Amino acid sequence: MLELDRIIIGDCVEKLKEIPDETIDVCFADPPFNLDKKYATYQDQKSVETYIAWCEQWLAELVRVTKPTGSILIHNIPRWLTYYTAFLNKHAHFRHWIAWDAMSTPLGKTLLPAHYGILFYSKKPQKTKFYEIRAPHKKCRQCDAYLKDYGGKKDQMHPFGYLVSDVWTDIHRIRHSKRRDPHPCQLPIHLIERLILMTTDEGDVVLDPFMGTGTTAIAAKQLKRHYIGIELDAVYEQIALKKIEAAQPTLYQGYPVSMYLNKIQSIRDRDAAELFPKQLTTTEKRKQRKQAQTVTELEIAPMFIDIMVG
Ligand SMILES: C[S@@+](CC[C@H](N)C(=O)[O-])C[C@H]1O[C@@H](n2cnc3c(N)ncnc32)[C@H](O)[C@@H]1O
Repeated sequence: MLELDRIIIGDCVEKLKEIPDETIDVCFADPPFNLDKKYATYQDQKSVETYIAWCEQWLAELVRVTKPTGSILIHNIPRWLTYYTAFLNKHAHFRHWIAWDAMSTPLGKTLLPAHYGILFYSKKPQKTKFYEIRAPHKKCRQCDAYLKDYGGKKDQMHPFGYLVSDVWTDIHRIRHSKRRDPHPCQLPIHLIERLILMTTDEGDVVLDPFMGTGTTAIAAKQLKRHYIGIELDAVYEQIALKKIEAAQPTLYQGYPVSMYLNKIQSIRDRDAAELFPKQLTTTEKRKQRKQAQTVTELEIAPMFIDIMVG
């Protein structure tokens, strides 16, 4: 039996071997980026060969444990993702390279790195669980006007928001130190929540082999999914456990949604269709009026004939 909702302490390459084949709905991994970040235990500087060989070990395990309907999602800088794609193309099926627009520091004599990548692979070419996601329409903070010019087609706008593409500009890195744990690379919860909503159903299992201070576990719990985490460092695990205990499902009229500052940040399209039904367009309204008019005319006509005959 797969023991759920727990963090396993240890090296993920070893601990992943204890997870049975094809038992996980989604694997999300946010490994160290080999950029010499200061972790409590892990030394974040390896030779390129050692780093890539190590990554291939846990990547292979992630593919193995993923269910045939499941997905493998990997977050990293573009440089390392190019190696990952070369490996994963042989063992899984490419779906997307999501560009998460998040500014980083200038390196000098290069283009300013302004996005992280999230690779989205499915275990099998078909029958992968996938749900389209909607995010709220973008508005000007000062004047509340829509940032996108919908021109004369405003009545065709979805009442909640737009369908999310493979470029994400609406989720920001954690900026305030009060929201940060003592960890050098903590991700925002709603980034992972969007991925979970996109690839799983309630009750599914999400595995994160680099749990850090628990972001994936909190996202899973808030969306009523299960999690399994692996983390090298017990200090991070302790921080994670406290936060996970305090987390509660974030439901909107019974539907699990991703909330940020008390507003919905991501919702599945199928749930949005129930909660925010589409409005009729001007053409549809005109057509409906015309139909109603024709019906009335048809009803009146026989009466008119009766009167004439009578
Ligand atoms: C980039 S951080 C993940 C941060 C996490 N996504 C969060 O939001 O808190 C990478 C984490 O992997 C852990 N780690 C490094 N090597 C590991 C290994 N071999 N097995 C398990 N965890 C490891 C580090 O301690 C660090 O917490």
